Amino acid sequence: MKIMKIEGNHPLSGTIKISGAKNSSVALIPASILADTDVTICNVPEITDTDVLCETLEYLGADVRRASESVVITPSTIQNKFIPSEYSKKLRASYYFMGALLGKFKHVEISIPGGCSIGARPINLHLKGFESLGATIKNVDDTYILDAKELKGANIYLDIASVGATINIMLAAVLAKGKTVIDNAAKEPEIVNVATFLNNMGAKITGAGTSEIVIVGVEKLNGCFHEVIPDRIEAGTYTIIGALIGEKLKIYNIIPEHIEALTSKLREMGADIEIFEDYLVVRKRNSYNNTNIKTLVYPGFPTDLQQPFSVLLSKCNGISTVEETIFENRFMHLSELEKMGMKVVKVGTKATFTGPVKLKSATVTATDLRAGAALVAAALTAEGTTTINNVEHILRGYEGIIDKLRDVGAKIELEEI
Ligand code: UD1
Repeated sequence: MKIMKIEGNHPLSGTIKISGAKNSSVALIPASILADTDVTICNVPEITDTDVLCETLEYLGADVRRASESVVITPSTIQNKFIPSEYSKKLRASYYFMGALLGKFKHVEISIPGGCSIGARPINLHLKGFESLGATIKNVDDTYILDAKELKGANIYLDIASVGATINIMLAAVLAKGKTVIDNAAKEPEIVNVATFLNNMGAKITGAGTSEIVIVGVEKLNGCFHEVIPDRIEAGTYTIIGALIGEKLKIYNIIPEHIEALTSKLREMGADIEIFEDYLVVRKRNSYNNTNIKTLVYPGFPTDLQQPFSVLLSKCNGISTVEETIFENRFMHLSELEKMGMKVVKVGTKATFTGPVKLKSATVTATDLRAGAALVAAALTAEGTTTINNVEHILRGYEGIIDKLRDVGAKIELEEI
C-alpha cells in the first residue's frame, strides 16, 4: 500500500501547472483503435489510469510509444481479442474499449469494467446505444460479448446525460452506416475534446458540447495529431487548496470557462481569486461565507469537485450544504474528514456542514480518487502530520501531485508500506 504523509498548515505559494485532462485521455487512448494509421496524442497525463489503458492497447497488439507527455500509438497491428479483468477492472474507463472495438471490428469481448466505488454505476445506457446501432449483447458471468454484422446509424435518446455513454456511442457510431443522433447527450468539455479528435481522424460529428450530437458515419479513419485539454477537475482541486492555504497560488494552464461553476461559487463565498486568460491566482481568506451546492451535469457544479470542496465548507461561517445528484454514494470521504474534526451530518445524498472548524491531523483512508483529493486538501490545512492510506486512488488521477505540491511549499511524502 502507498501512503502519503502531509505536515499541514504550511502556506503555499508559487505556480502549479495543470496537466492534460484524465477524463479526455482515458477516452482518447481507446479511441485511437479506430484509426488505420498512427495517432499522436499530446498532453496525456502520466497517471496510472492512462498507463493501464496504454498497457491494454499493447496487450491487444498496438505499438505504444510514450515520450514525456506525448503518446504515439500504432493501431494497425491490433488484434481483437478478449480483454481480461486484470486490465478492465483497474478503471472505469476501460468501457471505452467496448465502443472503439465494436466500431472498428464489430465484435468485443471484455470483462466487466471496474472503477471508483461511488455508486452502482450501471452501463445500461452504453449498451442500449450499442443495441440501437445493431449490436447484440451477451453478458456471461463477468464478461460482455458484443457482436454486430454491421452497425447502422440510429436515433438514440439517453435517459440520463451520461458522459461515458455519450462518448462510447460516438466511438461505436463514427464508422457505422448512415446517421446517428444522440439526444440528451452529455455536454462536458471532454466530450468536445473526444469529438474533435475523431473529426481530426476524418469522422463527421457535429453538435458535441450541446445536448444533440449528430454523427454521419464514414468508411475509414486515419491517424492524426491531437492535444488533450487541461484537466478542469485537477485545476479545480488546486484552486480549492489555494483558497484553503494559498499565500499566492497561481494555477496555470487552465480554461477558466471550464471551472466557472467553481470559481463563481468561490467568489460568492468571498474568496480572493483573480482570473486571467489561462491562469488564476488564489489566496486564502480567513473567513468565508457559508454556501450551498448541488452537483449537476456540466456546466453545473461538477460532482468530481464536490468532495474536495467540502473541505472548504468546514471553513465557512455557519451552516453550508452539499446535495449530490449524480452518484448515490459519493460521501465516503466525510467519515474520514470527521476524524480530522469536520462537523458534518449526512442524510441520504445531502450533507450539512457546520463551520468554521480547525482541522487536526489524523490517520485517514482514501476510498476513491476524489475522496483522496479531499483528504489531501484537508491535510494541507490541518495542524500536525496526517497520514493518508490507500493513495493509489489519488495517483490514478493526479499527475505528479507530490512534486506539484512540494514545489509550492507543501511538506508531503509518498511512502510504500
Ligand atoms: C464520468 C467521469 C467521472 C464523473 C462523471 C460525472 C470519466 C472516466 N469519468 O463518469 O469522473 O464523475 O462522468 O461527471 O470520464 N448512468 C446510468 N447508466 C449508464 C451510465 C450512467 O444509470 O449507462 C448513471 C450513473 O450511475 C450516474 C450518472 O448516470 O449516476 C452519470 O454517470 P456518467 O456521466 O456516465 O459518469 P461516468 O461516465 O461513469
